[in-house]
Amino acid sequence: MNDRFLKACRREPVDCTPVWMMRQAGRYMAEYRALREKYTMLEICKQPELAAQVTKQPLVHGMDAAILFADILLPLEPMGASFEFAKGDGPVIHEPIKTEAQIDKLVVIEPEEGLGYVMEAIKGLKKDLPVPLIGFAGAPFTLASYLVEGGKSTNFLKTKRFMYEEPAAWSKLMGKLSEVVRRYLHKQIDAGADAVQLFDSWVGNLSPDDYSEHVSAHVAHILKDVEKRGVPVIHFGTGTHSLLELQREAGGTVIGLDFRTPLDVGWEKVGPDRAVQGNMDPTVLFAPPEIAKKHASRVLDRAKNRPGHIFNLGHGILPETPVDTVKAVVDHVHEKSAR
Ligand code: CP3
Repeated sequence: MNDRFLKACRREPVDCTPVWMMRQAGRYMAEYRALREKYTMLEICKQPELAAQVTKQPLVHGMDAAILFADILLPLEPMGASFEFAKGDGPVIHEPIKTEAQIDKLVVIEPEEGLGYVMEAIKGLKKDLPVPLIGFAGAPFTLASYLVEGGKSTNFLKTKRFMYEEPAAWSKLMGKLSEVVRRYLHKQIDAGADAVQLFDSWVGNLSPDDYSEHVSAHVAHILKDVEKRGVPVIHFGTGTHSLLELQREAGGTVIGLDFRTPLDVGWEKVGPDRAVQGNMDPTVLFAPPEIAKKHASRVLDRAKNRPGHIFNLGHGILPETPVDTVKAVVDHVHEKSAR
C-alpha cells in the first residue's frame, strides 16, 4: 500500500508530499454524475458496493488517500432526526430542533444500529484499496448547526441564539452528538479505517471565547479518546485562524488549515508536534492549470518539505471543478516536492 499519507500524518520523512482533496469523490467527476443518474446520494451511501465504487473513483487522479464516500449527516437519521438532500438546496432537516424536549428524544445510538452500511463499505474497500482509507464524521458544532438551522446557514443565528439562551440544553445536545461521533469513529477504525477526520466545517463562525465555553470540551471528548487508537486523527475546520490554538488543545494529530491562513503561519500556531493538512483555495482549480500549479507551489514553499505536511485544499472541491486541472495539480505536487 502507498503509505506516504500515513507517514506524513505521523511526521515521518516521505519521498514526496502526499496529496488528497476534501470532497474528492463527487459531482466534478463524470463517473459520479453518471451513477447519480440512477441513484440518489443517500442510496449510494447506503449500498456498500456503490459507496466503495465512488470512493475509488478519484484515485485515477493519483491521490495518496481515499476518503470513504458518506456524509457527515448520516448519523442524524438513526438518532431520530430525519433529513433529505433537496435538489439544489443542500440538506433539509425535517423537524429542526427548537426545544429541549426534542433533544431529550434524540437517541444516543450504537453505530451498528442504523449505520452498519458505513462499516460494511469500509470492510469491502479494505480488501484491495491501494492507498489508505480515511473515515470521517461531523463535529458536534457543525452537526448541531444543521439540526437547529434546519439546513445550511449564513450567520448561524438560530444556532447561536439557542447556545446563548439555553446553555444547558445546548450542552445536552452537544453531549449526545459527541458521544455518538466518538462511538462512530471507533467503529470505523474497527472496520479498517486507516485514519479518521473530524469535519468542524462551520466552527470558525464562533469567537474563541464561545468556542472555549460551548464547544471545545465536546470535541475533546471525541478526539482525546479516538487518538488512543494510534491511527492519525485529522481535526478540520474553516475560518479557524483565531481558533487554531484552541483546536489543537481539543485534539487531533493532524490539524486542517483552510486557505485563509498562510500554511506556515497556521503551522506556527498549531505547533511543531502536530502535522498539518492543507491549504490551497479550491477556486484556484478554476484558473488555467499553470496558475493553479503556481498556487500549489506557494503552499509547498510555505511547508518547506518539513515532515508532517499533507497537501489538500483549504475546503472541499467544488462541483464544477475541471478534472484535468485536478490531475495537473496532483502531479505537480508530487514532482515539485520530490525529496
Ligand atoms: O470527501 C469525499 O469525497 C467524501 C464524501 C463527503 C460528502 N460529504 C459527500 C457529499 C464528505 C467528506 C462530506 C462531508 C460533509 N457533508 C461536510 C463537511 C465537509 C465540508 O465541505 O465542509 C458537510 C458540511 C456536509 C453536509 C452536506 N452534504 C452538504 C452541505 C451537502 C450539499 C452540498 C452541495 O454542494 O450540494 C451535502 C451533500 C453531499 N455530500 C454531496 C456529496 C458528494 C452532493 C450530493 C449530490 O448531489 O450528488
